[in-house]
Amino acid sequence: MSDDGPNRSIDLLVDVEAGTGRRAGLEEALRTAIRIGRLGPGTRLPASRALAAGLGISRGTVRAAYDQLVAEGYLTARQGSGTVVALRAQAPPEPRTGAPSEPRTEAHGGGGRYDLRPGSPDASAFPTALWLDASRRALTRASAEAFGYGDPRGRIELRIALAAYLGRTRGVLARPENILITNGHLQGITLLARVVGGTVAMEDPGVPFHAEGVRRGGAAVVPLPVDRRGARTDLLAGTAATAVEVTPAHQYPTGRTLQPERRRTLVEWARDTGGLIIENDYDAEFRYDRKPVGALQGVSPEEVAYLGTTSKTLGPALRLGWMVLPSRLVGAVADAKLHTDHHTEHLGQLALADLITRHAYDRHIRASRQRYRRRRDQLRTRLQPYLSHGLTIEGIAAGLHVLLTLPPGGPTEADVTAAATARELALGYLTERRLSPSTPEQAIIIGYGRPADHAYSAALDALTSTLDAVLLPPVPEL
Ligand SMILES: Cc1ncc(COP(=O)(O)O)c(C=O)c1O
Repeated sequence: MSDDGPNRSIDLLVDVEAGTGRRAGLEEALRTAIRIGRLGPGTRLPASRALAAGLGISRGTVRAAYDQLVAEGYLTARQGSGTVVALRAQAPPEPRTGAPSEPRTEAHGGGGRYDLRPGSPDASAFPTALWLDASRRALTRASAEAFGYGDPRGRIELRIALAAYLGRTRGVLARPENILITNGHLQGITLLARVVGGTVAMEDPGVPFHAEGVRRGGAAVVPLPVDRRGARTDLLAGTAATAVEVTPAHQYPTGRTLQPERRRTLVEWARDTGGLIIENDYDAEFRYDRKPVGALQGVSPEEVAYLGTTSKTLGPALRLGWMVLPSRLVGAVADAKLHTDHHTEHLGQLALADLITRHAYDRHIRASRQRYRRRRDQLRTRLQPYLSHGLTIEGIAAGLHVLLTLPPGGPTEADVTAAATARELALGYLTERRLSPSTPEQAIIIGYGRPADHAYSAALDALTSTLDAVLLPPVPEL
C-alpha cells in the first residue's frame, strides 16, 4: 500500500497506551479515535513514514496497523490518494446529557420556510466579489506589522477612513484617536457596560439580547419606555441610570424617530448628571423617503458614545462595528477591549478601510438602499388593503423592518403566530422585544431585509395569507 503521496505532511495526535504491543496499541488508538468521531469520515492519516518517525516506531509497524484497519473497514487506502478514514466508519455519537446546546438569540435559530423576522439583511446579497477584491488589495498592501498584535482600538487605516465617512454621512464629529473598532454592536455595549458600570437605561421595547449583554458586562438594566415621540428621555432624571442606550434615528423595533424635545431632554440629562448617552445608529444607512436624521453625537460629542455596525450594510457574519467615544472614555474602553480579545482581527478591518476610502462602500450602500426600497414599496402595497381593518404601519420610511400594530380587541400576536406557523412563515413580535411586561399593545415586526430576492414575493404571499386568516371573517359555507 502506498500512503506517502498526499499524506506526507499531515500531523496526527495518537495516544498509544503504554503496555500494549506497539502495533496493537496503535490500532486500538486509531479505532477508538474513529469510533468516537475524533477522526471523522474522510480524514486523511499521515504517511506511514511520518507517523512512524513521530511515534518512534518502525514504518513497517505503522503499515501493518493501517492494513489491519483497512481490512476491518475503518480505513480506506487508494493508490495516489493515501489512507483516509472510511466514510461509514464512524458510529453515530451517543446522545449525552449536558451536551452543548445551540446558542439562541433573536437573530439565530430557525426561521420558517418564509422568513420575515427582523434583525438581519439578506445574507445572500453579501457583496462577495467586492469583499474579495478589497481583501486581496488589503492583504497585498498590508505591512508586516499588520500581521502582529496591534492597537486595541483597531487599525489606524480604518479609523481614519471611518472618521471621514461618519463625518460626511452622519454628521459625527470623530477623530481617529476616539474611534474603537469592535466585533459589532453587542461587543460595544458590553464593553461600555463594563467601563461605566452602574445602571444602563435601555429602550423598552428594544433588544432584550442586548440588555443581557449589558448585564453580562456588569451593569444593571432599567427599562426606558418608548411612546409615539420615541424614548421617554423625560423619565431619565427619575432613574438611577448612569448611561442610556437609544436608537434616535429609527427606534428599534417601533421605527419611531426621537423627537427634538426628547433629544434636548436627553442631552440636558447627560450634561447635568455626567451620564453617558449610547447612540445606537444600527441602520442609519437605510433612509428612503425622509431626510436623514443626523447623529446626536454631532451635537454633543463629549456626552455621546456613538455606535455603528456593518451588520446591516454588509452582513452580521463579519462581526465588525465601531464606537466613537468621548475622550474621557477612550483609555478605559481600550483597556477593556485589550483584556477581552486584544483587538478585532486586522484583515477585515483593512478590507473595510479599502472599501470606504475607494467609495465602494458608498456605492454598495446606495445599491442596497435601492433594492430594499423596492422591497419596502412592495410590502407597503401588499399591506394597504389591511389598513381598513385597523392595522397601523410604522417605521416604513427607514431601516429594514416595519411595525404592524394590531387593532385593540382584534387578533392577538398569538393568533398571528398560529396562522403564520401554519403557513411556515416566521415573523417578529413586539412582546418578544419587551424588557418588562408592561403594555398590552400587540404588534408584528416584519423584517423585509432577510429573504433572498427570489424568495421575497412568496414570503409576502404567506404574510397576506396569514393576515387574511386572522382579520377577514371566514366565508360562510353554502
Ligand atoms: C437594534 C440593533 N442594534 C444593533 C444591531 C447590530 O448588532 P451587531 O453589530 O452586534 O450585529 C442590530 C442587528 O440586528 C439591531 O437590531
